Amino acid sequence: MTLDLLLSKLWNVYTEQNQSAKKVYDLFINHGEEVVNDHIAFRTFNYPAINIDKIAQTFIRLGYREVEAYEFPEKKLKAKHYEHTVEGNYPLIFISELITSEFSEFLQSVVHECSARVENRLVESGEILYSGNVWGPPSYKIYRLLLEESEYAAWLYYNGFCANHFTVSVNHLKNFESLNSVNLFLKNNGFDINVSGGEIKGTPEMFLEQSSTKADLIKGIFVEGEFGITGCYYEFAKRYKMPDGKIFKGFIANSADKIFESTNIKY
Ligand code: NI
Repeated sequence: MTLDLLLSKLWNVYTEQNQSAKKVYDLFINHGEEVVNDHIAFRTFNYPAINIDKIAQTFIRLGYREVEAYEFPEKKLKAKHYEHTVEGNYPLIFISELITSEFSEFLQSVVHECSARVENRLVESGEILYSGNVWGPPSYKIYRLLLEESEYAAWLYYNGFCANHFTVSVNHLKNFESLNSVNLFLKNNGFDINVSGGEIKGTPEMFLEQSSTKADLIKGIFVEGEFGITGCYYEFAKRYKMPDGKIFKGFIANSADKIFESTNIKY
């Protein structure tokens, strides 16, 4: 599988399942913009067969290298980011994992069972990245119990493997100078912005500003029936030059911490 093919498969699955992501994309295109991807994010569990390093294998094989690791103690998450070794417009890759050992026996047993059902061939080939839920029909009862412990765990239990979000590079937009003007444009067109930690996470002094839409409410299909749950969201990032004149290409843990909350659901 080539990188271009992988990226287009990820995009197709993401936009098929999240109507508002496609709408946001079309909105920019119809506004005369070319949409360049800043980064794509994935979620997984820290189980050996499917942890960050396993999920990253395909990207490493396709020319990426690991750059930096992050920790989110409150959400009990770890993450790493990867960049392509050839200069170009390939997106950064951000992969996070839930540290399951810090949760209940129940959560750990669910993850254990789910992980045991993942076919190694999917991980080896990289198909896992867009395979969605690979652990069988989800139970709403289990989903709700996971939700009490970790929104991330519940989201991953239902949605499985897919791009959790794509990110519009605001630097590459011609008609938008600031992230604030992007947010205004989105709100004027009826999209909800995630306000956890403020609409804009980060500052020019941190060299990165980020915002995101709130995840789509999707119809979750469970063994018990259909229930509303959250799908994926779209992110927007503006990067700034560092004192050495280079554009900052990392992530800010505090900001990412709040961006994770874009998939929060209230019952
Ligand atoms: Ni992101």
